[in-house]
This record gives sequence, structure tokens and C-alpha cells, in this order.
Amino acid sequence: MDYPVLRRHNLVARLQREAVDALLVSHPVHVSYLTGFSGESSYLVLGRERTLLVTDGRFTEQLASECPGLELLVRPTTQNLYQATGEALTKLGLRTLAFESGHLTLLDMELLREQCGSLDWKPARDWVEALRVVKDPSELAALREAIHFAERAFQAFRALLRPEDNEKDLADALEHQVRRVGGRCTSFPSIVAVGARSALPHAPPTSKRVGEADFLLVDWGACGKFYNSDLTRMLVPQPHAERAGRMVPSQLAEVFRIVLQAQAAGIGAVRPGAKGMDVDAAARKVIEAAGYGANFGHGLGHGIGMMIHEAPALRPLSEAVLQPGMVVTIEPGIYLPGWGGVRIEDDILVTPDGCEVLTSVPRDLEGSMVVV
Ligand code: GLY
Ligand code: MN
Ligand code: MN
Repeated sequence: MDYPVLRRHNLVARLQREAVDALLVSHPVHVSYLTGFSGESSYLVLGRERTLLVTDGRFTEQLASECPGLELLVRPTTQNLYQATGEALTKLGLRTLAFESGHLTLLDMELLREQCGSLDWKPARDWVEALRVVKDPSELAALREAIHFAERAFQAFRALLRPEDNEKDLADALEHQVRRVGGRCTSFPSIVAVGARSALPHAPPTSKRVGEADFLLVDWGACGKFYNSDLTRMLVPQPHAERAGRMVPSQLAEVFRIVLQAQAAGIGAVRPGAKGMDVDAAARKVIEAAGYGANFGHGLGHGIGMMIHEAPALRPLSEAVLQPGMVVTIEPGIYLPGWGGVRIEDDILVTPDGCEVLTSVPRDLEGSMVVV
């Protein structure tokens, strides 16, 4: 199955429904989604009858292997992207053009308009996002691969952990492992937060050392060719293998248990037809009942795919309705300033009759202990 072609067909049907001649795809992620092209600085003009990619000579050879059969307009070095696109739009004889209103800047539009006078511009909001929200089999395979890279990297990372390591060095080491096992890059700057630093949900890494606290939080992900994974685990270093588990502070054990319970409730609520707000509420209720409602200051989760944060949102007031093929994170957390935070994050596929947890790194307290 040629999925990019199928996606383009879906958009052509939308062009017909909306009585528009073409869609100008300017968001690089969307150009990749609709063509398989991994380069940049290119616009896709997707028309009812003809589609062409406006690109430049740096990518000609790459395009021949990544998107054979795609019509190209390779602009000469004497022309910029706006001039070449303007020329293409004029040549195609378009009268109405939809543009990605969430991604084309005002300046981009002004520069394009200078090139093609009489075109009727129509804002297209979330047209491509609406397709991307449900993953096809090729995307699910890519997401599973991105999860596999992240999990293998974490396994190697755990084995490296030493009390004298600091957050920054550990984040670098984790990112190296992600690449070493096959990831193109990390999905986002990795978070390694020791002790009280973990109370910052997106803590930037510092020189704080593992040995300075009883636990640390690690939030990381791997990106394959295009798709991103996103996980969070707690690690509880144990200095003595023979006494492992006997030195877990009681507050950590309690907060951990509540977060894990909240996550299980959230995962249990993931099914087709559930709204984002319902799934959020299922987990939030557990944290609120335990008296920590004020310490869970973010949404329960988000979609993952070609972007690390995408639709659907799982948070209070989210009307997004889950459908089979969506992939979301479930990541409740409790953050206590001065003490630290516990967050546990997994990646979940919505299936026709419920959900499948795609991530498999142990998430319970026992599985979080690591002898250092
Ligand atoms: N790593 C960012 C997040 O969990 O959403
Ligand atoms: Mn996340
Ligand atoms: Mn994360």
C-alpha cells in the first residue's frame, strides 16, 4: 500500500467537497506525511488533477529514491521558494487555493501573493492534522519501532547509572544510546531530574548528581525516520544489591502507588468513543481522592506521531473523541515542590475494543529499582 498516495487522495476528496482547486502544503511535517520526503525547504501543491513538489537541487537525488513518481518542480538557484511556487500556481491555472492557516506565516503569504496576483486564498485549518490523528498500519509500525528504540536505549542507560553521574551527563548518555540503537534522534531534549528537581515537570538537566537523592525521573523518547515515542520512568537507585528495596522512603512509596493507580485508571478509560476529558478525569479522580489534586498541574496525555505533542489532547475540557488507530500518552504526575515529583508515562494505542499498551519497560516500584 502506498500510504502517502492514499493520504493525498483523501485530501483531493476534501478539495472537491470544499470547492477549492488546490491545497498549498507548507508545513514540513505535512510535506513528509503526504510524500515520504525527508528533506525540507519544499512546498507541496496538491491539486485536484495535478500535484507537484516545489523543491531545489539539493534534494533531486534524494527525491528520486524517497518519492519516485512524484512530479517535481526543481527551482533554479536564481529563484527563491516563493518565486518558484508562485510560478507553479500560475502555471497550473488555479483560481482558489487553500493554505495551511496554522503554519503559513503572514510573511510567507505576502511573498507568495506578490508572485501570483488573482488567486483566491482560503484558510484550511487542520486539514492534514485531521488525517494524521488516526494512524495507518505503516505509522503504527513506525511508532512501535520508535518505542523499541527508546526502550532499548533505556535498558543500556540503566546499566550505566552511577551515584556520581549528574543529570546533564546522564541526559547526554541517554541520547547517545537512543542513536546507538537505531534512533535518528531523540523526540525532545531528554529530562533527567534528580530528587527535588523532579518536581519540575519539564526540568532542564543540571549538574545535580544521582547520589544526592533517593530517586530520579527520566522522561525520554526516540525518533525513528519520522515518528516519536515518549516515556517517563522513575528510577530508585539501590546502593546495596543484597538490601535492594528495603531503603525506599515511605513518601516515595505512597506517591508512586497513587500515580501508578491513576495511570491504570486512565489506561482503563481509553477506548473508542471516550472523550479526552473522560480519560483525564478517570486518572485525575484517583489523585484528587488521595489529596494530591493540586499537585497534578498538567493534562493526562497527548497524541504522539510525527510530532511529539499532537491531537488528541487528554485533559480537562478536551472534547476530542477517541477512535481506533489513535496513539496517546498517559502520564499522570504528582509534584511536590522541595521534595520531588513522580510521573509515569506510557504510549497507548486505541483499538476497536479498548486499547493496547505499546510500551513495556517495567513501571512498578520494584521494576524501578536499580543497583548502582
Ligand atoms: N516529554 C514531554 C511530555 O511528556 O509530554
Ligand atoms: Mn508526553
Ligand atoms: Mn514525556
